[in-house]
Amino acid sequence: MTDPLLSIRNLKVEFRSRMSTVQAVGGVDLDIYPGETVGIVGESGSGKSVTMLAAMGLLPRTARVAVSGQVLLRGQDLLQMRPRQLRQIRGRDMALIPQDPMTCLDPVLRVGVQLREALRVHQRLTRKQARARGIELLRTVGIPEPEKRHDQFPHAYSGGMRQRAMIAMGIANDPALLIADEPTTALDVTVQAQIMDVLRQAQQQTQACLALITHDLGLIAEMADRVVVMYAGCIVESGDVHTIFKRPRHPYTVGLMASLPQGGDERHPLVPIPGNPPDLGAIPGGCPFHPRCALAQGRERCSNELPLLRDVSAADAGHRSACHYFEEIHGSGQWSRLAQEQAS
Ligand SMILES: Nc1ncnc2c1ncn2[C@@H]1O[C@H](COP(=O)(O)OP(=O)(O)O)[C@@H](O)[C@H]1O
Ligand code: SF4
Ligand SMILES: [Mg+2]
Repeated sequence: MTDPLLSIRNLKVEFRSRMSTVQAVGGVDLDIYPGETVGIVGESGSGKSVTMLAAMGLLPRTARVAVSGQVLLRGQDLLQMRPRQLRQIRGRDMALIPQDPMTCLDPVLRVGVQLREALRVHQRLTRKQARARGIELLRTVGIPEPEKRHDQFPHAYSGGMRQRAMIAMGIANDPALLIADEPTTALDVTVQAQIMDVLRQAQQQTQACLALITHDLGLIAEMADRVVVMYAGCIVESGDVHTIFKRPRHPYTVGLMASLPQGGDERHPLVPIPGNPPDLGAIPGGCPFHPRCALAQGRERCSNELPLLRDVSAADAGHRSACHYFEEIHGSGQWSRLAQEQAS
């Protein structure tokens, strides 16, 4: 098997304040292999963004933010790198496409100037070459009249076009890894589909790996080769996308799926997971999911012992679950029943 491009090992991130300590990421292990799309899914606040921001060295390095573990890019630990080295890696080796483009686009600079900046850091191009490349990138991501758009300010762009511009910036230097953090959440449904197409094409063109962060399992089913499910700062299940959808082995994954519309099938009514994700300043002891889990049924082990992520079976390489009782979960037909139990 080929070596992973990115290997995250025992990554922990704590936000400290005088009042409390929030463990946003509680020891994540994650590999991303060349060419693959990994979907990272979980409810809001489960630590998806913080995991990938920490991996890119984009969290502030202050006493109030404690990051530990290893983030190996082709074997080199990004967490040990100096800011200058990291800046060189960002954009060239890995690029982030954020949820809200306006947090990253500078409103007072023309889009073309921002593209030129993204290119300039890593490539020696004359002004003329940079302009030509900038226009080409805008054309690649499907922005009409790219010559005209190149010289406009971001406020002249629609939301969908801004997100396209961010994708253009992300792929400007052919990075090996693209991280897209909820890239379509702020957009309406028709634009969402277009943006995902653009992202898919951009990925194919650059042969980049894609880490796609989303709370949308439907998007994962469409895009991902492999799925990582996060809950309360930890990975609770991971595996090949078909396996995860056909044979989920964690009650939380089952719950996420049961809350997905399934083509109007009445045998599988929509059932939300009861309760809310925990406050990360006070994660419940034992299994963090136990207060919401139908399978826990008052079992002491669930409230006492933290389940570790382990292989589901020797035959199912790469499928892992962090549930003490995953053997009791069989097939997707059980989704709605289990979910209804969880809801009642
Ligand atoms: N800058 C920050 N300062 C303090 N706490 C933060 C900060 N960013 C994130 N957190 C904490 O980390 C948790 C996980 O955040 P995040 O990774 O953004 O969740 P997700 O992307 O899964 O919705 C949040 O619920 C919050 O408690
Ligand atoms: S360990 Fe217990 S509480 Fe946690 S997911 Fe499994 S059954 Fe539910
Ligand atoms: Mg997020």
